[in-house]
Amino acid sequence: MTTDNMADENTETCRKTVLITGGAGGIGQEFAKLFARDGYDLLLVDRAKEELKHVRDSLQAINLNMSILLLEQDLTEPDSAEKVHAFTSERGLHIDVLINCAGFGSFGFVNDIDVEKELDMLQLHVITLYRMTRLYLKEMIRHNEGTIINVSSISAFQPNPYFATYGASKSFVLNFSRALNYELKEKGTNVKVLAVCPTAVKDTGFKAAAGMEHTRAFHSWMSVNAKVVARDTYNALGSDRDVVIPGRGLGLLHRVVSFLPVKWLMRISRCELKEGSGIRLKETFICSHDKGTDQ
Ligand SMILES: NC(=O)c1ccc[n+]([C@@H]2O[C@H](COP(=O)([O-])OP(=O)(O)OC[C@H]3O[C@@H](n4cnc5c(N)ncnc54)[C@H](OP(=O)(O)O)[C@@H]3O)[C@@H](O)[C@H]2O)c1
Repeated sequence: MTTDNMADENTETCRKTVLITGGAGGIGQEFAKLFARDGYDLLLVDRAKEELKHVRDSLQAINLNMSILLLEQDLTEPDSAEKVHAFTSERGLHIDVLINCAGFGSFGFVNDIDVEKELDMLQLHVITLYRMTRLYLKEMIRHNEGTIINVSSISAFQPNPYFATYGASKSFVLNFSRALNYELKEKGTNVKVLAVCPTAVKDTGFKAAAGMEHTRAFHSWMSVNAKVVARDTYNALGSDRDVVIPGRGLGLLHRVVSFLPVKWLMRISRCELKEGSGIRLKETFICSHDKGTDQ
């Protein structure tokens, strides 16, 4: 782990700080821009040091007075959340907003995917996110204030053939976040947890890293860009919502579609994850390959 402390620590100020994992990535960067514009100090955590520096330089232009701390950390390491937390504790940094955004996809027939890759993904999406949430939640409850934004996915809502492990890991993110938010509300705290469930986001590093450039989802009218994801999430802060599906009308569409039987939802997901350009409704519902899903 290496660090790059770019500004004075904020212990003596009353400025607010947002910690963004995956802060050098597409959606993470867009979150960083919005919080920077609103005068937050930033702690960006990612495994790509050069990318982090590049993002810092572009963000500093938005707000010259803010502090931007960078932390290079591979969040698939089992004790990575504790290392991030130690970094903030040593500096007396209070985190007002935690955004668990780091993630990657693994696409294909489960039996063909490298086991280690999927184990790393589960570690990142499930264990590290859980540990980060627990570590910062404690402090937020003590201050009776704070927000945790957990980036899930639209794949969290149903089983996703050929995106099976990824989707299941994002189901954990969604359901854990919603249940925790419920508990916090029932306990009367002002701490909130918001799950973000984007459809395919076409302008980030995700699709290339997952080998999904040619899947229909990224060419569909339902795909969005990273700016929209960050903006719609940001606008939902302070509301009573526990889930955001970014993109105009997509939340409403999801509510309608969610009444369909699970085997239909799986077919839709399967068809969206095929190679091609745009979802074909006829094929979605007649899908001939789905012999195994019709029980
Ligand atoms: N793009 C989509 O279609 C989409 C849709 C729904 C949900 N999401 C979710 O949105 C989040 C952000 O993705 P994105 O679209 O912005 O993709 P992205 O541009 O690839 O950003 C993800 C960032 O997370 C970092 N990261 C990955 N593994 C890491 C690790 N082990 N330790 C530390 N940092 C790590 C990546 O670094 P490297 O570049 O070094 O890997 C990258 O900077 C992810 O959780 C993803 O699952 C994305």
